[in-house]
Amino acid sequence: MYICLCKGITTSAARSACRPDMSTDELASCLGIDKDGCCGKCMRNIQSIAELASGAQAVARAQA
Ligand code: FES
Repeated sequence: MYICLCKGITTSAARSACRPDMSTDELASCLGIDKDGCCGKCMRNIQSIAELASGAQAVARAQA
């Protein structure tokens, strides 16, 4: 599923690019989404992916 139509970024591509300690802005930058020239409508989706990665890392730490 596409989460960013401006850049043609899929959910799986965003998940692959995401690291657990990345902020939303860092993930967006990594995916080539900048504040100039992009609409920013996908930022909520980007934020959710970054938060899920951080949450998954926290759960893994708690289970270790
Ligand atoms: S939908 Fe991602 S910048 Fe426009």
